Amino acid sequence: MVVPTLVVRPGHPSFLDLPWEVAADEWSSDRLVEMPTGIHRHPVVFVAYDEGVYVIKELPKAVSEREYDVLSTLETRTHRSAVPVALVNRGWLETDSEQSGAVITEYVKHTFPYRRLVSGLGFGPRRNKLLDSVAGLLVELHLAGCFWGDCSLSNLLYRYDAGAIEAVMIDAETSTIRDELSDGQLHEDLEIMKENLAGEMADIAAVNGSDLDSADLAIGTDIEQRYVDLWEELRKDLIIARDEGYRIRERIARLNDLGFSVHDVELEASGNTNLVSMTAHVGSRTFNSDRLRELTGLLASENQAKILLGDLSYFLAKSGGITSTEKSIGVFKWLSTAFEPMVTRITGVWPGDDPVQGYCDFLNHRMKLASERKKDVPDSEAFDSWLAHGFPGFD
Ligand SMILES: Nc1ncnc2c1ncn2[C@@H]1O[C@H](COP(=O)(O)OP(=O)(O)O)[C@@H](O)[C@H]1O
Ligand SMILES: [Mg+2]
Repeated sequence: MVVPTLVVRPGHPSFLDLPWEVAADEWSSDRLVEMPTGIHRHPVVFVAYDEGVYVIKELPKAVSEREYDVLSTLETRTHRSAVPVALVNRGWLETDSEQSGAVITEYVKHTFPYRRLVSGLGFGPRRNKLLDSVAGLLVELHLAGCFWGDCSLSNLLYRYDAGAIEAVMIDAETSTIRDELSDGQLHEDLEIMKENLAGEMADIAAVNGSDLDSADLAIGTDIEQRYVDLWEELRKDLIIARDEGYRIRERIARLNDLGFSVHDVELEASGNTNLVSMTAHVGSRTFNSDRLRELTGLLASENQAKILLGDLSYFLAKSGGITSTEKSIGVFKWLSTAFEPMVTRITGVWPGDDPVQGYCDFLNHRMKLASERKKDVPDSEAFDSWLAHGFPGFD
C-alpha cells in the first residue's frame, strides 16, 4: 500500500486508513458519506469519522498547497471560510497531475448551496439577504488582506443566520493573502465577482428554460454597491472636536452594531485646530459571537449571537441582577432554565438542522406575539403558538 505525505492538524484523524493509492472518485470505503455538492471542477468526497465529517478535494500539488495556506491564514483573520485540517501529497504521482495533492477541510455544517436560494418563488425576499451576505463576506476578506480571485455563488456555502444569511468561503485555490490589498486589487476582485455571477445567473435562466433577458444579470453590480457602502462605512475617517469624545464611542458602537470588532482607534490632531481626525481599525465580523462565547460558551453565527444576547439581557433584566456575581449566576440560569430546555424541545420537533437557528426563529415568533398583545408572552405559550403556526422563521 502506498501512503501519501500528510500534514494533519492535531485533534483530527490521521486519514491514513483511506485508500490513497487510487483516485478518490474510485474509492469504496465505509468512511464515505453522500452529501449534496454545488457545481465544482475537482473531485470532492466526504468522509465520516468520530471527530466529524470531512471534505477531501483532490487538486494538483501546488494548487492544494496554496489553498491550504490561504485557508490556514484566513482562519486566524476571519471566521467565514472552511477550516483546513490536512494537506495531502501523493508523492508517487507527477506533481502537475490532478490527483497529486488534496486538501481536507471540516465539513461546514447547516449550510446549503445557492441554488436552493435563487430557485423558486422565495428568491425575491431572499435576494437582498443573499446579496448582503456576499458583499459582507467580500468586505471581510478584503479587510483581512485576501484577494479571492474567484468569488462566485458556487464557491460559497450559505446558512441561515437569524434573520440574515451568512456566506462561507470554501474555494480558495485562486486566492492570495497580503498585509493589505491595493485599490486595483479590490477593483479586480469585484470585476471577477461580477463576471462570475452574471455567468451563474445566465446559467440558471438557461436551466429554467427562460431567455437571457429575464436573467438577473445585474446581481453582481448590486453586490458591488452594497460592498462599496459597507467598505466606506468602515473606512471613513471622522473629524471631531477635542471635547467630543462621545462621538468616538458612538462610532465604535455603530461598527459593533454592524458586527465588527474594533482593534483600536487612531486619533490625529488636525493642524493647529481644535479638531481631531479619527480612524477606526476594525477586525473580524465577530463582535457579538465573541461576546456570546465569552459569556456563555455558546457558538453561534453573528446575527444569531446578537439575538441570543438580546434574549439573555432581557432575561437578566427580568431577574434583576446587578453585581457581576449575580450576572454570572443569571447567565447560568438563562442557559439551564431558558436556552437549553427550549433547544431540547425544538430539537425534538423542528424540521431544521441547526437548533440555534430554531431558537432564534422561536424568539422572533415570541417577540411578534408580544408586540401584537403589547405584553410579555410566557415561553410555553409562545412555543405552542409557534408550533401551531408551522414554525415560522424570519420574514
Ligand atoms: N468544507 C466544506 N463543507 C461542505 N461542503 C464543501 C466543503 N468544501 C467543499 N464542499 C462542497 O464541495 C463542492 C466543491 O468545492 P470547491 O472547493 O468549490 O471545488 P472546486 O475547486 O472543484 O470548484 C462545493 O460546492 C461544496 O458543495
Ligand atoms: Mg469551486
